[in-house]
Amino acid sequence: MKRLAPVAHAAALLLAFSLAACSKQESATPAAAPAPTAATTTAPTAEVASAPPVQAANDEGKAVYNKTCALCHAAGVAGAPKPGDKADWAPRIAQGNDTLYKHAIEGFTGSKGAMPARGGGASLSDEQVKAAVDHMVAQSR
Ligand code: HEC
Repeated sequence: MKRLAPVAHAAALLLAFSLAACSKQESATPAAAPAPTAATTTAPTAEVASAPPVQAANDEGKAVYNKTCALCHAAGVAGAPKPGDKADWAPRIAQGNDTLYKHAIEGFTGSKGAMPARGGGASLSDEQVKAAVDHMVAQSR
């Protein structure tokens, strides 16, 4: 019995390898169609690598959020919805961006507490407040 163990192990490894090779080929096929040999391994990796930076585009929203909004929203002070708390955000997001922007810019009192106009940051522009809303919403979908 003990002698068989390494063989089984090797077989499992082989299987894993061939499965990996197989799935790699499958995912590479559409992208690699014009030049099968060269693009086979590089195309899928490049696609994955270029996917994440979408959120980095909202640096301003992040900065405004950290400076002004996080004071309440990061810890849920006074009932402020925390970014990433999907249950709290879902019905808010469902109202649509225009309502969220309006509530953030003009302030509003909901069932949980009072959201001050511009989060108390009176000097913030509408665009800055909207960017901060976008930042929170993007983390809470
Ligand atoms: C003084 C605390 C406080 C600060 C600072 C604050 N908020 Fe709020 N915010 C709240 C509270 C409390 C609520 C929840 C009110 C409720 O639903 O009852 C809220 C809710 C919201 C909502 C959801 C609105 C809706 O319609 O459900 C948005 C969007 C929002 N805040 C954006 C911001 C932005 C953007 C900033 C920074 C510019 C900010 N908040 C700063 C307390 C704060």
